[in-house]
Amino acid sequence: MTVVHFDSPMSDDDRRARLFAGDLFVYSPTPHSMALVAFARELAEQAFAPHFPPDAQHHLAGPDYVRVLADLKPTFINHPRSAELVRGILTDLGADPEQTYFDVPRLRTMTSEYLNAGLTLQFAPHRDTWFSAPMSQLNFWLPVYEVAESNVMAFHPNYFATGVRNSSRNYNYAEWVAHGRTVAAQQVYTETREQPRAEQDLELEPDVRIITPPGGVLVFSGAQLHTTVPNTSGRTRFSIDFRVVNRRDVESGSGARNVDSECTGTTLGDFRRVSDQAPLPAELVRAYDTVPG
Ligand SMILES: [Fe+2]
Repeated sequence: MTVVHFDSPMSDDDRRARLFAGDLFVYSPTPHSMALVAFARELAEQAFAPHFPPDAQHHLAGPDYVRVLADLKPTFINHPRSAELVRGILTDLGADPEQTYFDVPRLRTMTSEYLNAGLTLQFAPHRDTWFSAPMSQLNFWLPVYEVAESNVMAFHPNYFATGVRNSSRNYNYAEWVAHGRTVAAQQVYTETREQPRAEQDLELEPDVRIITPPGGVLVFSGAQLHTTVPNTSGRTRFSIDFRVVNRRDVESGSGARNVDSECTGTTLGDFRRVSDQAPLPAELVRAYDTVPG
């Protein structure tokens, strides 16, 4: 059974416990989520002018399209206003600013039957916990423009408690940062970088797809098996996501049950506290930073 909570008044502690058990939480747009969407639109509309961003793929050649994204995405990700608005969203949704840590928000695009590599990669079924995320990680996801069932994410809840054979044993976050990420902008048409993936056939249906208006916020455990649905909508999907942990969970080792992740290393060094943007204590990060065996 997959429970989906809409605009739940539940406390953050109770919410995390339910998320670690596989539930999904959906919130109507908040003041800060709308401001983040407006900011993303402003940057995207400038970058793709005179084209409407979801339609720009029909007007630009592949390399030109990728060049725009190669500039737009890091501008959004690293902009102080993006981090400030994420802190606002977490506060809107009742997270404790002293215990909650977030990673910078990513701006994602998924083109419709166009490019599928590097900066426009569609993610095959995966858990974020195959990519060195802690088991306590929560993912926040919001659409920037209207979305439909043909261009959102799909969850495969049957696998939340059931392991999948996968290649996460070959993934170490520190190695990925050193070698993988920097080449993404050079990959226009084909994807050659090794990413953790399922090594068995999966029953991907029935799946769960959540459609909210722009700025609606979907929250799920980083251990959920999820897929980017092949986009057949005719329009590029623009979305924002960011990762969140609660320090008490990191310290106590709370989180979803690990059913199949064998990666090493940790992304925890990237997280910043909501109240003052301080990182997690180095020794806590080090405790998670395992090395390939
Ligand atoms: Fe993911």
